[in-house]
Amino acid sequence: MSDPLLAIRDLCLEFRTAGGWARVVDGVSLTIREGETLALVGESGCGKSVTALSIARLLPSPPARIAGGEIRVAGRDVVAMSSRELRSIRGGVVSYVFQEPGASLNPVFRVGRQIRESLQLHRPDRATDDEVVRLLKLVGIPAPEIRARDYPHQLSGGMQQRVMIAMALASEPRLLVADEPTTALDVTIQAQILDLLRDLRKRLGMAVLLITHNLGIVGDLADRVAVMYAGQVVEEAPAAELLRSPRHPYTRALMQSVPELGHASERLRAIPGTVPAPGRWPSGCRFAPRCPVVRPDCSQSSPPLLEVAAGSRVRCPYWNV
Ligand SMILES: Nc1ncnc2c1ncn2[C@@H]1O[C@H](COP(=O)(O)OP(=O)(O)OP(=O)(O)O)[C@@H](O)[C@H]1O
Ligand SMILES: [Mg+2]
Repeated sequence: MSDPLLAIRDLCLEFRTAGGWARVVDGVSLTIREGETLALVGESGCGKSVTALSIARLLPSPPARIAGGEIRVAGRDVVAMSSRELRSIRGGVVSYVFQEPGASLNPVFRVGRQIRESLQLHRPDRATDDEVVRLLKLVGIPAPEIRARDYPHQLSGGMQQRVMIAMALASEPRLLVADEPTTALDVTIQAQILDLLRDLRKRLGMAVLLITHNLGIVGDLADRVAVMYAGQVVEEAPAAELLRSPRHPYTRALMQSVPELGHASERLRAIPGTVPAPGRWPSGCRFAPRCPVVRPDCSQSSPPLLEVAAGSRVRCPYWNV
């Protein structure tokens, strides 16, 4: 069988702090095949973004370091790559879209120029005005010839996010990492951007890593879901299966705290307690102090990630009782 597009094995990430190295990702394994969409879900601070940034080694080092594990993109070992090889991965294989489009666009340049610069960097043979217009059209921007001459502030948040997606697509990535791409947008625009991602993924055949704290948006888009808590994956399953019958108590709690329509940009607050800070993870099951079905032995030993069905794993020995 050919290599998956992305294979992360037992990844451990640490940050240097005043008190020493703090582990923020602790033994995470994820796989994405060509054309597949994986949603990475979990509350704020559980390690989703740092995991995603490590795929193209975008975490500044120091303060970050890869303390263990393996990251392979299209069969190539990212951890061992030179900066030149990393540039080829960033340009040609993996592209990112982040939460705040306004913060990532340069306010003093027209958006068309910014897309053309992205083309110049990744596909110089195609850095033309025609290609800029084609990309703007691809992401659903009306009157693209005119909009290309706009400055970012002349566009709404939703249109700015479309421009960011166009810039990410300029390199024809095989994996698009979308880190909370709709969190900063209002609810109707969120739905439109998610529709766009779904449409693009189908038309371009690219794989997507969709990061979100809202399980409510993964159903239509993701093939599989991985749920993170306190630096670990606690459950992974095909999306339909996970949404129908979540196994881990944390996943169940997340399902019950899906933001309602109209309040979708709210941070999750419904699960009592907070995610423990890195370095302060409780012993045994890290979710035990907040778990509604905790048992006396849950704090004693760390539960392994159990394979409970083909393609489904859960880090709770009591998922089935
Ligand atoms: N540059 C940094 N220096 C030190 N610690 C960091 C740094 N960046 C992230 N962290 C820590 O790593 C942990 C994981 O952060 P990360 O941004 O991956 O969380 P997240 O799951 O993406 O959360 P959110 O939903 O808020 O985006 C957090 O505890 C965070 O404080
Ligand atoms: Mg994040």
